[in-house]
Amino acid sequence: MSWVYISEISAHVGETVTLKGWLYNKRSSGKVHFLLVRDGTGLIQAVVSRADVAPDTFAAADALTQESSLIVTGHVRADSRAPGGYEIAVETLTPVQITRDYPIAPKEHGVDFLMDHRHLWLRSRRQHAILRIRATIERAIRDYLDGHGFTLVDAPILTPAACEGTTTLFETSYFDEKAYLSQSGQLYVEAAAMALGRVYCFGPAFRAEKSKTRRHLIEFWIVEPEVAYYEHEDNLRLQEDLIVHVVETVLRERRAELETLGRDLSKLEAIRPPFPRITYDEAVEILQREGFDQRWGDDFGAPEETFLARLYERPLFVEKFPAVAKAFYMQPDPTRPEVVLCDDLLAPEGYGEIIGGSQRIHDLALLEQRLAEHGLPRAAFEWYLDLRRYGSVPHSGFGLGLERTVAWICGLEHVRETIPFPRMLYRLYP
Ligand code: 4AD
Ligand code: MG
Repeated sequence: MSWVYISEISAHVGETVTLKGWLYNKRSSGKVHFLLVRDGTGLIQAVVSRADVAPDTFAAADALTQESSLIVTGHVRADSRAPGGYEIAVETLTPVQITRDYPIAPKEHGVDFLMDHRHLWLRSRRQHAILRIRATIERAIRDYLDGHGFTLVDAPILTPAACEGTTTLFETSYFDEKAYLSQSGQLYVEAAAMALGRVYCFGPAFRAEKSKTRRHLIEFWIVEPEVAYYEHEDNLRLQEDLIVHVVETVLRERRAELETLGRDLSKLEAIRPPFPRITYDEAVEILQREGFDQRWGDDFGAPEETFLARLYERPLFVEKFPAVAKAFYMQPDPTRPEVVLCDDLLAPEGYGEIIGGSQRIHDLALLEQRLAEHGLPRAAFEWYLDLRRYGSVPHSGFGLGLERTVAWICGLEHVRETIPFPRMLYRLYP
């Protein structure tokens, strides 16, 4: 009998097919078992009717428990009353394994319990939707960049130096040396941009952040495009185009999953260019006027970001932060050297910063000075300084945090559900 996936069932109406999967749920009467079967591609109702099957098949259906694995063969029929519009009239049923005491019952569980059982929690409909949307977002990002002349360049995970400040470094021993888990691939894609022009890396980043918020993970994924000869304005345009492409792709390809999550689609449909833009100075003025205790020179906290972003329906660019609030590598604004040519892109609806980007310092002397001011060990950065010694050009790039983007697009309360196995301040298991 031909094995098919539930997602393809509409092409098999009137045929007898085999499905291989797991029992999601079951309703029974004395005469009939309604099995809700999942196979990774979808859910379908499989009807086992006492009148139509052999007694041992009916008994096998009777013995099935939640998350038992099974193979069923039956006749596919269209039925507008069935969830999904199709169902299977079961002819034979083979249990593969009968599950005992599945820990996640179809009822409410606390988040800690679910997180402890994350390896099983992934089997729920809500998690299927999130994982699929995440995968689609990753592909949309790659498709966009690959289609616009970018070359994927993988950056190392073990690194000799800090990219985003020394306070969040994960240290590990590297034979007789110290190494750090990468906080960002940026420095390496800068080198690659001088070789290939338009590049990006896409991989995990690690930050030992002692923040227990709904936006912070210890291990997260970041895509970092970097372009030689791009200046601040070019950089913002690229960010805007990429975000619009990602949102459009998810709306087109993952509408059903967004609906499963109860996402308000009109909020995503509003994501069109151009995105509003304010300077850091303007943002501080707005915040002070609204009674926030925001001083010029300090980075924004989550409540400040949330407030600013809620003023708009589209993602908000906040640009030109004080140099003192930002990383060492950012190019000063030529008209006002105390601020740098950078931006944070704040997602709407209170999801906070999803992108951090900047034009990079291309002048050797200035970069040397900044390294010293930030107390960074010069020797570990000699190679990076070389990029300013040999054919240095203005260049720009940014980092888009995947999990915050997934949280925003899915409308989730917390980033913990956006990644298959989250690493958080107090969680390394499973
Ligand atoms: O703003 P960040 O720190 O920028 C950089 O790492 C630059 N080197 C990027 C570049 O220019 N190539 O981080 C970029 C993004 C943030 O906007 C956020 O979306 C995400 O990475 N991010 C985190 N996501 C989850 N948990 C954390 N702890 C994160 N830290 C940063
Ligand atoms: Mg940032």
